[in-house]
Amino acid sequence: MTVEPDTTWAIPDGAGRHRGIGVVGAGGIVSGAHLPAYRQAGLRVVAIFDIDQARAQEVAQAFAIERVAGSVAELLETPGVEIVDIAVPAWAQPAIVSQVAAAGRHMLCQKPLALDYPTALAEVETAEAAGVLLAVNQQMRWDAGVAASRGLIRAGALGTVEEVWLRVSVVTPWHMWPWLAASPRLDISWHSIHYHDAMRSLLGDPVRVTSVHGRSPQQGEVQGETATTTVMEFDGGARAIVTVNHYDTHGTPISELRILGTDGMLEGTIGVNFDYPTGRPDTLALYREGRKVRDYPLDTRWIPDAFLGPMADLMDAIEMGRAPVTSGRDNLRTIALVEAIYRSAAEHRSVTLDEITGEA
Ligand SMILES: NC(=O)c1ccc[n+]([C@@H]2O[C@H](COP(=O)([O-])OP(=O)(O)OC[C@H]3O[C@@H](n4cnc5c(N)ncnc54)[C@H](O)[C@@H]3O)[C@@H](O)[C@H]2O)c1
Repeated sequence: MTVEPDTTWAIPDGAGRHRGIGVVGAGGIVSGAHLPAYRQAGLRVVAIFDIDQARAQEVAQAFAIERVAGSVAELLETPGVEIVDIAVPAWAQPAIVSQVAAAGRHMLCQKPLALDYPTALAEVETAEAAGVLLAVNQQMRWDAGVAASRGLIRAGALGTVEEVWLRVSVVTPWHMWPWLAASPRLDISWHSIHYHDAMRSLLGDPVRVTSVHGRSPQQGEVQGETATTTVMEFDGGARAIVTVNHYDTHGTPISELRILGTDGMLEGTIGVNFDYPTGRPDTLALYREGRKVRDYPLDTRWIPDAFLGPMADLMDAIEMGRAPVTSGRDNLRTIALVEAIYRSAAEHRSVTLDEITGEA
């Protein structure tokens, strides 16, 4: 049996790629993932701004970016900046979203879009009122293993999906990001949000979630939750179980995906977690009746390859007059899911997404 991947979810190739990009934030993820991905694809970055101007200079030099702006306003005045790539911590994002929208520029925001649902909603409404597109950098949707799984599910290769398992058990050096180590919310808001957004892209929106959070005796000064297990329930009875531990110091890393359907099973690994940020390509295999029937060779990596996805999709969306795949509007459901997960863990009960969105 031959099953073709769903091309709707492939990284768009071509349209809009001539548009100039201005980057706000010159931190680790910009130099390690955004700019390498854009350089590889031949995208044009025309200016960069960071409140740490020395850092902006350094990154501009490394990636041959012509202009280091002295402020967001200066970046927006730079000729050729048509799209703004915002890559700062979430609490700094709303003010920049307002400035970019007021200047009539499209934007790619970082995840999490905001640290609470009302702030995320305000950002989305600001962009909509200004008539500009806002996309969110949930690039796991373009991670090779996730994109291939989604294509196979949609092509019917598994029959009806009954259950998805994503299990990650690793050691994460949180001290490398002091502001993350100090954050009262950690795994779900900043890390597992990718997995939960990916579950939405595989199965749609869950009706309700139940989540249990823990801390490790080894985490020292790190404030937030570092072990989480979340069960999502979907219309029709499917479940997704996402379980993550950041202090698995005694074993070898685990980063595995398993999707059970009525007609088959997909088993794979998410490569980035094995030695972040270098990672390795994902793996994915299809099983039927206890036998492996096909391996899917996946030769790209999450970092940097998947980082082209949200930007190329935004560029294509501008050109085609459509909403981006990871539009702010879509991402509100991911932010609602994050809120529902935290409420579930805090109150030891199952929480529906409607409970969160109904309050805003
Ligand atoms: N999509 C992903 O997979 C992914 C991965 C890692 C980080 N991120 C996100 O990217 C953002 C940055 O993370 P990082 O790892 O690069 O952190 P970092 O600490 O390395 O860099 C953050 C940069 O933002 C700058 N900055 C802060 N406030 C600013 C402002 N108001 N205006 C301009 N610059 C400002 C800082 O000076 C710093 O250079 C975070 O929101 C994080 O969640 C996303």
